[in-house]
Amino acid sequence: MNPLIDKYNRRIKYIRISVTDRCDLKCLYCTPKDSDSYSRRRAILRFEEITRIVRCFADLGVSRVRITGGEPLVRKDVVSLIGQLSNIKGIEDLAMTTNATLLSKYAIDLKNAGLKRVNISLDTLKSETFKMICGGGKLKDVLEGIRGAVNIGLTPVNLNTVVMKGLNNNELIDIVHFAIENMANIRFIECMPVRRIVNLSKERFVSVKEIKSLIESHFELEPAESSGGGPASYFTIKSAICNPQSAIKIGFISPITQHFCKSCNRVRLTAEGILKLCLAYKDGIDLRDYIRSGISDESLKEIFIKAIQDKPQGHQFLNDKCIPIEQSMSMIGG
Ligand code: 5AD
Repeated sequence: MNPLIDKYNRRIKYIRISVTDRCDLKCLYCTPKDSDSYSRRRAILRFEEITRIVRCFADLGVSRVRITGGEPLVRKDVVSLIGQLSNIKGIEDLAMTTNATLLSKYAIDLKNAGLKRVNISLDTLKSETFKMICGGGKLKDVLEGIRGAVNIGLTPVNLNTVVMKGLNNNELIDIVHFAIENMANIRFIECMPVRRIVNLSKERFVSVKEIKSLIESHFELEPAESSGGGPASYFTIKSAICNPQSAIKIGFISPITQHFCKSCNRVRLTAEGILKLCLAYKDGIDLRDYIRSGISDESLKEIFIKAIQDKPQGHQFLNDKCIPIEQSMSMIGG
């Protein structure tokens, strides 16, 4: 029996862990330039504390872990954390979400340490647009990172594109072609109204319905299996069936127009050790305080079980009822 079943009968199998709120990019939709997210409020969790939390969750049936940030690769020695986590019994899937600027440097070490796969943000294929969306950095490094990840076998590589009107919505077909050439899956995501970008997310909003019909004007899509129980609905390209080289999946993620809270199987741990039961709710449980006051593993697990019972039924940011998330994604873990 898995004790991590909430009152809406959702089974929690997945924890997303932010290891830092720092990032070497300042993406418009995540950490806008004037962001105050770096004012260090208090110390972040040490690796052994993260590992202990994951071990306790694994004992309760959690089998999937994703390391996020900020940008996880800017945290010193993150490879050693991957090594520690990959040795935990019961963890079957260990993944990372990264902007890939540093990925070509670390890909081999990450793979050797036990990382299985990466999701990589890719919003544009144009250097100028990259600068505009990401506030700095070099697209070239990201593209090298993607190729490195595919070559080294951190696969399947999922590329994430947050679609924004007037910024990258005219590039979606090119991005699909890029994904095909690089044998990566591609997921298009609706922009969510997080802290400080509420106006941007409204003005630039493109729905999955619009995105999908645009893609369908160039490619014939067929529904595909969604592996892993994540939020994307997946398709393959029909003409690609005979050509396994381009048998990638195209995913659509619609947190706004068609939320997937009903099948949510995840919790989040912020860099500072707050356990969040839902992306859209500010509050969470301060695990760092518990751990540093000498709590036993058994009591920690009881806290997890109780916390799961309070997991909100869903977020509230549907259409005009839209409520902004109070923290930026870089603070929560994108
Ligand atoms: N809306 C949608 N997705 C977002 N991400 C970050 N901020 C937002 C937002 N406002 C996702 C992107 C990015 C990952 C790190 O987090 O997919 O690739």
